[in-house]
Amino acid sequence: MRKIIIDCDPGHDDVMAILTCLAHPEAFEILGICTVAGNQTMEKVTKNILKVEDYFGLDIPVYKGEAAPLVKAPEPQPAAHGESGMDGPVLPEPKRTVEDKDALTFYKETLEKEDSVTIIALAPLTNIALLIKNYPELVNKIDCISLMGGSVYSGNIQKRSEFNIYHDPEAARIVFDSGVRVIMAGLEVCAAGSILLSEAAEFKNGGYASKLCFDLMEFYKLYAVKRGFDRTPIFDLTPVIYLLKPEIFKAEEMRVYIELDGEYCRGMTVCDKEKENPHLVLLDTDREKFIEVFLDALKILDEKYLA
Ligand code: BDR
Ligand code: CA
Repeated sequence: MRKIIIDCDPGHDDVMAILTCLAHPEAFEILGICTVAGNQTMEKVTKNILKVEDYFGLDIPVYKGEAAPLVKAPEPQPAAHGESGMDGPVLPEPKRTVEDKDALTFYKETLEKEDSVTIIALAPLTNIALLIKNYPELVNKIDCISLMGGSVYSGNIQKRSEFNIYHDPEAARIVFDSGVRVIMAGLEVCAAGSILLSEAAEFKNGGYASKLCFDLMEFYKLYAVKRGFDRTPIFDLTPVIYLLKPEIFKAEEMRVYIELDGEYCRGMTVCDKEKENPHLVLLDTDREKFIEVFLDALKILDEKYLA
């Protein structure tokens, strides 16, 4: 069983990834959820996760993280996730509140206390870079960082850059150069695990958790629908599903360099087969088996949470 901290910017796909963790208490003990500016402002993404916790009656502690990247200004993405950062479901204002301490303090105190913690990072890496910079003596307590970010040869915000890394490349460089084991789920492996829109349409006939995912997908799928695609990646699911079922992935040990400059490729992850300081770069997955893990997670939650 892994003790995990989820670092996120919910975000439709962040929520679906968190739900998948929640469905597997035998694999994950969720110590806390940290938020960070990314898809939307830190305040908005924090409100979104609190709404989701209220929806299920959860009491996982939520810690506010950084409101801006290390160097440049935040660049919220309303086209991808809406003005709220989680457009689609209509959920009441949250009753739950965040913890008093901030994300950095939570990370520090948790790593001091625990022997080994896995970080699942679904957003820009600002919080985690600050943890590494401020408390280098605690870094050996991080078992690995399983993250969604980067790409081997493609891009979704610039020609060769993926959003989470592009949003704070200075932070990403600190994380990838820290010596901590990074498992990188980039754009290509996320695309390989795409859900068919016809599969997502079935969520309507499921239970309480499935219905929330149906509402999330109604907005989230628009990018694919507008382009005539029959499927869409649920990006942030990938680092979670890797931890649950590594055997369904193809991966390669590579060194990952983060590009900080460049008119066309700021935030590019330059993956090189050099063996020094290797990370694990996920390259491909078995789509059917990948989606089965997600659908099974929803079934588990539908049975557990009845409304
Ligand atoms: C990543 O960016 C965000 O919009 C998603 O939540 C995901 O973490 C995909 O590039
Ligand atoms: Ca995200």
